Amino acid sequence: MKLTNKVIIVTGAGGGMGKAIALQLVERGAFVVGIDISVESLSDIQQDNFEAKVADVLDEQKISELFSEISNTHGKIDGLVNALGIAQSQTPIEEVSLEQWHRLLNVNATSLFITCKEAVKYMKPKRQGSIITIASISAVRPRPGLQSYIASKGAAESFSRAMAIELAPYSIRVNTIHPGPADTNMLGQFAEENADVTAMKDAVFKQSVPLGELIQPDDIAGAVVYLLSDGAKMVTGATLNVDGGRGL
Ligand SMILES: NC(=O)c1ccc[n+]([C@@H]2O[C@H](COP(=O)([O-])OP(=O)(O)OC[C@H]3O[C@@H](n4cnc5c(N)ncnc54)[C@H](O)[C@@H]3O)[C@@H](O)[C@H]2O)c1
Repeated sequence: MKLTNKVIIVTGAGGGMGKAIALQLVERGAFVVGIDISVESLSDIQQDNFEAKVADVLDEQKISELFSEISNTHGKIDGLVNALGIAQSQTPIEEVSLEQWHRLLNVNATSLFITCKEAVKYMKPKRQGSIITIASISAVRPRPGLQSYIASKGAAESFSRAMAIELAPYSIRVNTIHPGPADTNMLGQFAEENADVTAMKDAVFKQSVPLGELIQPDDIAGAVVYLLSDGAKMVTGATLNVDGGRGL
C-alpha cells in the first residue's frame, strides 16, 4: 500500500508505536512530521522524508502554529495519527488524586481535541483527510486499578466516532485502533509501584493475549498504513482491534 506524497502528522513519534508508525509511513512514500515532547526520543529518526518537531501537544497555541506551518510548507495535511499517550500505574481509585485523573484525561483525551481541531482546519477545504487515534483495548476490556487511563481511552474512542459522523460530509475519515498489551516502554508503566516488570510482562500481559505474544509496534503501524490508504476509503468510525484477541 503506497502513501506517496501524502503529508502525515504523527504525535508521540518518539514513542514505541509512534516511531514504528513514522518509519513505516516514510517507507511507503509519505512525508511525515513527527511531534513529541521528548527531544531525545526523536533524535534517532534520520529519514529524508521525516521532520521532527518538539512540542507538548497540550500547548494549543504551539500546535496551532505548527499545523499552520506544515500546511503552508506542503500545501496540505493528508493525515493525522494520534499516537502519544501516558500510562497509569495500577492504583485503587481511593489512592488516585484528582490531579492524576486530570493529567491522564488531559494528555490522552484533551490532546485529541487540540490536534483534530487543527487538522480539520486544513482538511475540510480540501474535502479529504484521514485521522487515526491509538486508544486501547482496555477501553472495552478493562483491568483493575487503571480507571483513569481507561476512562481517557473510552473518551478517545467516543470522540473519534463523533468526529467520524461530523466529518463524513467532507470525506474526512476518522478511525480508532485498540492495541492490546504492546512491547514498548509504556507497558512496564502499567505495573504497580515496585512490581517486577519483566515477570509481569510474561505472567500477566502475555498470558492475557489469546494469540500468546505481546503486540509489536510494527503490528500497529501496519494497521495505520491500511487505515490511511485508499484501500480503506469506505472505512470510517471504525475501531480496529490489534490486540491478539485480548478483547474477546
Ligand atoms: N504499550 C501498550 O501496552 C499500549 C497498549 C494499548 C494502548 N497503548 C497506547 O498506544 C499509544 C502509544 O503508546 P506507546 O506504547 O508507544 O508509548 P510510549 O511511552 O513508548 O510513547 C508515548 C510517546 O508519547 C509522548 N508524549 C507523551 N505526552 C506527550 C505530550 N503531551 N506531547 C507530545 N508527546 C507526548 C512521549 O514522549 C512518548 O514518546 C498511547 O496512546 C498508549 O496509551 C499502549
